[in-house]
Amino acid sequence: MPAEAVHLELARPYLIQQDWKAYTPEQHATWSELVRRCMPQLRQHACQEYLDGFEQIGLREDSIPDLAAVSAKLEPRTGWNSTPVSGYLPADAFFEMLAAKRFPTTTTLRDKNSLEYTPEPDIFHDVFGHVPMHAHPVFASFLNEYGRICMRMKGRKDDLTRMGRLFWFTVEFGVIRQHGALKVYGSGLISSHGECSYVMEGGPEIRDFNLDEVLQHDFSISEMQPVLYAVESFEQIYEVAQEAGRRLG
Ligand SMILES: [Fe+2]
Repeated sequence: MPAEAVHLELARPYLIQQDWKAYTPEQHATWSELVRRCMPQLRQHACQEYLDGFEQIGLREDSIPDLAAVSAKLEPRTGWNSTPVSGYLPADAFFEMLAAKRFPTTTTLRDKNSLEYTPEPDIFHDVFGHVPMHAHPVFASFLNEYGRICMRMKGRKDDLTRMGRLFWFTVEFGVIRQHGALKVYGSGLISSHGECSYVMEGGPEIRDFNLDEVLQHDFSISEMQPVLYAVESFEQIYEVAQEAGRRLG
């Protein structure tokens, strides 16, 4: 479905155009440096679904992605679209977009002097970190289902806080066991060389994914994660999202 055919009411004020031609050579060089920093480690430690998605949506090392071109490759696979937005969205607008398979994507890029840390999401976190996983059908369905469930919880702050923890420990900081090894798939790990190294060096405690525990587990956004939850398959996160929806209503 083309982006314009989707009716977004709450998110509409935040939708923008990506002015791809306005990126400077220096910004493309910063993107390139970020990809070169992360990729060798990810080839070893990211799940194969991420690496496949990176190729399938046509991401490149040498230039900042054109979101329209990314979406043109992504939509035929899973129906998802990487949709440019002006910045942080209010929760309702964010969930509305996920429920419509429109991933809110920022278009700005961090400064070359702060490669490792960005206080707000940027196009590197959003596209390099998140979007390749949207090419995987099960993960794509999970994220869509997550948005639909959260939309039904509109205004229920406590339940949405619980769902926010589910998002954090899957979409942002998820790890998965594959063929006897721990692999990363969460965007916060994919797009941070330092945090990914920390995981692979055995920094965090890795627990088996447990929905009850995750829904109650407060996290800090300003430090390395001391605890992560490993799933055994992507079907598992789809199922836990549905289970959370059933429990929280
Ligand atoms: Fe993120």
